[in-house]
Amino acid sequence: MSQPSTIHLKDYLPPAFLIDQVELDVDLHLENTRVVSRLHLRRNPQRPEPGLPLELHGQELTLHSIQVNGAPFSDYQLTESGITLHHLPDQAVLETQVEISPAQNTALEGLYISGGHFCTQCEAEGFRRITYYLDRPDVLARFRTRISADAARYPVLLSNGNLIEQGQLEGGRHFVCWEDPFPKPAYLFALVGGQLHAVKDQFTTLSGRKVALELWVEEENLHKGQHALTSLKKAMQWDETVYGREYDLDIYMIVAVNDFNMGAMENKGLNIFNSACVLADPKSATDRAFHRVESVVAHEYFHNWSGNRVTCRDWFQLSLKEGFTVFRDQQFSADQHSAAVERIQNVALLRTAQFAEDAGPTAHPVRPESYIEINNFYTLTIYEKGAEIVRMLAELLGWPTFRRGSDLYFERFDGQAVTIEDFVACMAEVSGQDLSQFMRWYHQAGTPQLRVERHYDPAARTFTLTLHQQTPPTPGQSDKQPLLIPVKLGLLDAQGQDLPLILKGEALGDETVIHLREASQSWVFEQLDAAPLPSLLRGFSAPVKLDYPRTDAELALQLTQDSDGFNRWEAGQKLALNAIDALIQQQQQGQDLQLHPSLVSAFAALLQDHQDPMMLAELLQLPSEAYIAEQYACVDIDAIHIARDYARKMLATRFYDAFLALYQRFDLQAPWSAEPEQLAARQLKNTCLAYLVATESEAAFTLAQQQFEQADNMTDQLAALTALAHAEDPAQGQAALRAFEQRWQQDALVMDSWFSVQVTRPYADALDRLHQLKTHPAFSMKNPNKVRALLGAFCQQNPSRFHRRDGAGYAALADAVIELNQLNPQIAARLVLPLTRHQRMDDHRKAQMKAELQRIQDQPLSPDVYEVVSKALAS
Ligand code: TRP
Ligand code: ZN
Repeated sequence: MSQPSTIHLKDYLPPAFLIDQVELDVDLHLENTRVVSRLHLRRNPQRPEPGLPLELHGQELTLHSIQVNGAPFSDYQLTESGITLHHLPDQAVLETQVEISPAQNTALEGLYISGGHFCTQCEAEGFRRITYYLDRPDVLARFRTRISADAARYPVLLSNGNLIEQGQLEGGRHFVCWEDPFPKPAYLFALVGGQLHAVKDQFTTLSGRKVALELWVEEENLHKGQHALTSLKKAMQWDETVYGREYDLDIYMIVAVNDFNMGAMENKGLNIFNSACVLADPKSATDRAFHRVESVVAHEYFHNWSGNRVTCRDWFQLSLKEGFTVFRDQQFSADQHSAAVERIQNVALLRTAQFAEDAGPTAHPVRPESYIEINNFYTLTIYEKGAEIVRMLAELLGWPTFRRGSDLYFERFDGQAVTIEDFVACMAEVSGQDLSQFMRWYHQAGTPQLRVERHYDPAARTFTLTLHQQTPPTPGQSDKQPLLIPVKLGLLDAQGQDLPLILKGEALGDETVIHLREASQSWVFEQLDAAPLPSLLRGFSAPVKLDYPRTDAELALQLTQDSDGFNRWEAGQKLALNAIDALIQQQQQGQDLQLHPSLVSAFAALLQDHQDPMMLAELLQLPSEAYIAEQYACVDIDAIHIARDYARKMLATRFYDAFLALYQRFDLQAPWSAEPEQLAARQLKNTCLAYLVATESEAAFTLAQQQFEQADNMTDQLAALTALAHAEDPAQGQAALRAFEQRWQQDALVMDSWFSVQVTRPYADALDRLHQLKTHPAFSMKNPNKVRALLGAFCQQNPSRFHRRDGAGYAALADAVIELNQLNPQIAARLVLPLTRHQRMDDHRKAQMKAELQRIQDQPLSPDVYEVVSKALAS
């Protein structure tokens, strides 16, 4: 494998040819599928240079023949990336015949086999593994796809659009023909063939058109399909009501597959889903899994407009579709559930995983300038930070104006491949706002830091708020410009009530959004009789780090009184961080550990208020070890673990009775339902159970054991199993783990949880378990869900064990990456990421992590792994 090359945004050129129509003929065989493609080509008027050759992409294809306008054609060269055809007429029908081998495809890109079924994954550049093509998102063509296969083994044959023809063939084979009337880029192509069964439903659109809904699954999973269909109908309805967007085809199909690199894929009219993101029934799926299904189904559905009808000009624009669509799915989820809790959970993910990415060697702008392997750019930055940018736009413009901008965008660019500038220009046009400074959010990597200063002048009765912003350097970007940062705020009085806001004589109500544009800027609030307490960055109005020192009393006031749910939670997290920081220092100085009383009183106050059990469950969570680590320039991984564990156990002991009372009160003793009250009750009850068991008392173990045995749903069963299996004494969880395995060994998705629970045990034996479980019959390196459940969970959710001092955790990860690099480069390049986060570790661990990275780098590497590892070694 030669050193891979870098693609630059500045080199973008439109293609030499356009493709108006594609006729594909795919003859499915496990080892040698034949693909005949007829491309109706014409020269692109945007590329007037005479006689440009046509460069088609192609990868792992065996070429059989080429014809141009019906005659054999030989004026071509095979290249590293595909094929170059010379001296083509201005209009031509190009026919190629190739052979591919789905059974050998372990990368899970292009056409491959999962569970004995044929399926495809073409985003971002998988179509070139099916046939020679202009595999780039700015080439939009109409597809007509004929599929033939063995009729008994592959009775169901699906592709995009409408079914127009089907029939029997000789030798027990059959064929179908699909036609998609909407021009689309090749990354939205999909094809499925297998012994599948459908759960069917129907949706009537705003304008009264009937759309057939079909969810295709393996027969034994039919009972797990209802929730996805219900979610789909909710999403279709929501997009009509909130964005005025209607579905366009007469049929919408979703297929569940077990082997899938990501969560799901929005192929036009034929979504393909990781079964973990579409199948759910109460017996086998947790409430969290139900939520994930709902939100991923919605996400892929929303792509039909934000992504498919209006698509990306090139892959540098990826966040155009992903940032906007994540924002849309977050809005949808906020409308279905508790908006505050949804926001808290989204921000928690952003602030741990995305902030860490933005501070590490793979940091990149939401609109990157260059890449080696585009698959490496399906990141938290593109998705989650991209969504934050769209959220800020909506906040800056106000919803009605943002909605007009969205309408303009969809109308103006329907059927086109466009850029992030095109999207923002619509927002600027409808609002009359100058968004040029705002565009820096797309260009600058790194998390901005906001420092807060406050000053009250009793004589003038004014309060001055000063904000300083600064963005740290990131690889390749040393100088950062000030951003436009919307800061939503209120001012609290001594009781925690919102004060009226008056700026320059203008009354602004209880809450306002100030726009920080300069490196430092001040606001003077007037007519205040006493120093107010600012509640800043409400709802997390911008993706920044807030350096805002407050006293414990101020934090406690916000925790209980702030009218903004997000800032209540944030104040609680800050109190916990302060208390844990004190413990970390005691630990480092060899002192006895003493939990700060302010956290104890905060818990005492929280445990008295059961008004909103869903929110309470969130408020009772201590910050994760990963988020605690985010606070330090040099991370003491052991001290963090010890301090957090100590705080958890102290709180559990101190409030045992209160946790038990809450547990009993919210243990509803009613059959499972998905009602919000029940969901909240399960969430709170299981939060309490985890605290109770943290005391390692017999009574608590008995309670967990009972819950494990009696649960009629996976949420309660898995919560009890986790509590038992994460007890210090490994014997506590043994029986339950064995019983669980017995009961669920046939269910791959449940077994994923069984793997994860064991390797996230925060004790020394976790790595041994990982090594044992790698040989378990249900584990496979070829299945991405299994790799994530075992190796991903260990490295990402068990930091103290992954960062073992002896380096054995790093070595285990490196071994897996080296093995996976051959099988599935995309997954290997994701799995390796925890090893690249060595910058803030102590010298001993940093050296070990780098040594493992170097060991990987010494192998012949895929471009995917090469890009990530070389960036990590260079930093
Ligand atoms: N577009 C998909 C989504 O956001 C992401 C995706 C699915 C993907 N499968 C992929 C991206 C494979 C890269 C490779 O829902
Ligand atoms: Zn998406």
